[in-house]
Amino acid sequence: MKIGIVGTGNMGRILGCAWAVHGHEVFFGARNAQTAVDAAELARANGGVGAQAGSNREAALFGQVIFYSVRDVSPAQVIGDVSALDGKVVIDPNNWPVPEGKFDFAPVAQSLAEKLQTWLPETKVVKCFNTMAQELFEMPVEELRAQEVSAFIASDHAEARDTVAALARDLGLAPVDMGPLRNARIVEPLGDVIRYLILGAGLGPYASLKVDVLQPAETGRFGGRVATAWWARNSATGG
Ligand SMILES: NC(=O)c1ccc[n+]([C@@H]2O[C@H](COP(=O)([O-])OP(=O)(O)OC[C@H]3O[C@@H](n4cnc5c(N)ncnc54)[C@H](OP(=O)(O)O)[C@@H]3O)[C@@H](O)[C@H]2O)c1
Repeated sequence: MKIGIVGTGNMGRILGCAWAVHGHEVFFGARNAQTAVDAAELARANGGVGAQAGSNREAALFGQVIFYSVRDVSPAQVIGDVSALDGKVVIDPNNWPVPEGKFDFAPVAQSLAEKLQTWLPETKVVKCFNTMAQELFEMPVEELRAQEVSAFIASDHAEARDTVAALARDLGLAPVDMGPLRNARIVEPLGDVIRYLILGAGLGPYASLKVDVLQPAETGRFGGRVATAWWARNSATGG
């Protein structure tokens, strides 16, 4: 697959390198030409033979899938005419900044991913890769795969969720389908949870989130759920 990295920072460089090593065609874009060239060289040095470098706009034109890691900046400011992205899958890995390192977040009415979708109405925005630190991708991919770290994926386009799920598997992650893009409102706070664990609680960048479905208890010890009046009214809707 042709992947354009718009914003070759830490996440763009490392995920782009990992995808290139997997065999994808990756084009690193940056506003500083040398940054993109360095990332492409790093990818090629690790076996990502086809890695290329240029401007953010060239990356946007190149990719079938775009990795957009420029946080909360409109694509028009970054690539100019956004019709270059029409019809494409645009991955949003962004998290809100941690206010003064204190994890004291203001309430969020619209997720970063929904905001990106309003800026790019003709694209298929997919929320993903915001719930783990870049360091995980330094691990050999099969070692990472064995850990079954979750990649939460939200988008209004089911086929775009499938595309990103495949790209997540290529990196050694376990995709978790989170449904429509509105659910980025619950995926982005998971980015806050993991950053709190990494930074606030001091677990470090190899802390990770994994969804597990456990075997049901063979014999319920405590009688299970009791049908309270509230539960009877709301259980059908997951209240
Ligand atoms: N790093 C992680 O472990 C991690 C994990 C999960 C999610 N995330 C999220 O992913 C996003 C990127 O994180 P990061 O660590 O990769 O940050 P980063 O290293 O600071 O990279 C940000 C990129 O955005 C570019 N950029 C910023 N403002 C721009 C503008 N006005 N025009 C064009 N380019 C601009 C930067 O370009 P310059 O270099 O030229 O400034 C850089 O390439 C953030 O939202 C972060 O919360 C990060």
